[in-house]
Amino acid sequence: MAIDERKLSALPVPYGMELPDRAPKQRYYDPDFFRLEAELLWSRAWQMACRLEEIPSPGDFAEYEILDQSVVVVRTDDLGVTAFQNACRHRGVKVAEGRGTCDGTFTCPFHGWCYGADGKNRAVTRRKSFSEHNMQPGDLDLTPVRCEVWGGCAWINLGHDAPPLRQCLEPVATVLDAWKVESLRTEWWYACRLPVNWKLAEEAFVEQYHVVQTHPQLAIPERYPPRDGRPTDPRTLVDGELHYLRVMSEGMAGMVHADDVRIAEGLAAMELPGDPGEAMATWHRRLNDEVVRWHREAGHDVPDLNDLEARGLNEPMGYCFPHYFVLPMYSSASSYRFRPLGPEETLMEIWSLTRYAKGEKRPPPAPPEWWECDDPRWPPIPAQDFSNLPRQQKGLHNKGFEYMRLSGPMEGHVSNFERTVDGFLAGLPHERLLPALREVNVNPLERPIVDIGL
Ligand code: FES
Ligand SMILES: [Fe+2]
Repeated sequence: MAIDERKLSALPVPYGMELPDRAPKQRYYDPDFFRLEAELLWSRAWQMACRLEEIPSPGDFAEYEILDQSVVVVRTDDLGVTAFQNACRHRGVKVAEGRGTCDGTFTCPFHGWCYGADGKNRAVTRRKSFSEHNMQPGDLDLTPVRCEVWGGCAWINLGHDAPPLRQCLEPVATVLDAWKVESLRTEWWYACRLPVNWKLAEEAFVEQYHVVQTHPQLAIPERYPPRDGRPTDPRTLVDGELHYLRVMSEGMAGMVHADDVRIAEGLAAMELPGDPGEAMATWHRRLNDEVVRWHREAGHDVPDLNDLEARGLNEPMGYCFPHYFVLPMYSSASSYRFRPLGPEETLMEIWSLTRYAKGEKRPPPAPPEWWECDDPRWPPIPAQDFSNLPRQQKGLHNKGFEYMRLSGPMEGHVSNFERTVDGFLAGLPHERLLPALREVNVNPLERPIVDIGL
């Protein structure tokens, strides 16, 4: 529900969101603000650490780095997932790097201390040479990190007092479960090093206000009946819709999967009611049914798209605070993760996800090289978004620029998100942050500024 923005209270945070529709520029580059985020946000928030398909078999591990912290996520014998801090209890060397399979033990490369895949210390080289107080049982195991599984991913939390993962992800977890995101698999995975703050990077992807200017190819007037009520041939609308699906599919190299575009093209000539509104509703319902039928025949675990629609769960974007997105469309999806590398440097990863037959063996997706944001290999839509970001980060520093002014109805998520960040930076306890998470973990598009309860 939209609210009177001026009545929201501000939290005592440096460069805090004193007005909900104004974001002070220092939030996006000030080193002290960045340090506060490391101390009070990244150390306490649930984070997507890896996709489960990266570690399919017992002993498989993936390293997750966030700022100066490194966590090893390991697949256990019972196909569960566990995690620990990546530092040998002797002199701190990382026991694992990147991705791989632990053949029973992680052996520290420095002096050879050994740890089981469960993080338990198994061997200390020349143990008798250490004094007793340095050899206390339990004190030699790798330090455990909280780890849970949801949505086809392993999640970690570096703190101890956060509520369980699922509670922190609602209501978006329910929406994305209905989409069966856990059965999506990687078709490709790319990474971009962006010379901007992580929040600035995320905020380029959470509203549709920028679409007409930044992605003019996506503004397709033929998709909609004319506003003045002039009669339209439903064919024109279907052609407009097909054009949109193709441009999306090519623009993202996925998201709308090429298979689904082909299924839609196969329906181009179907019979339609004369009324444009009814015609489009009929066409969409039929397309949903055909996509579901085609994929189920191929053995894919795909949700009933018309049922999703009927239950109001067909959201085009799901956001998980602080850094993870899933954008489902028809059978497939794009997914994003953002990680700060410094106050003005961000790693953004993009996955193109789709469905494969149940039981089909696929190799774990290879971790991507980091491309620069102007790399010619980027698909057109992210390339357009990336082209604005370095200019924006530079523009913020100008003396004549003080704060971003946000549109209440169109850029509400930016405000809701930034105020949730303030909740963390104010050091609020988790039970006070939960209501804010429930407001921010939704579809961010066209989300107004709301009272997040802080
Ligand atoms: S630092 Fe690991 S064995 Fe010495
Ligand atoms: Fe965009």
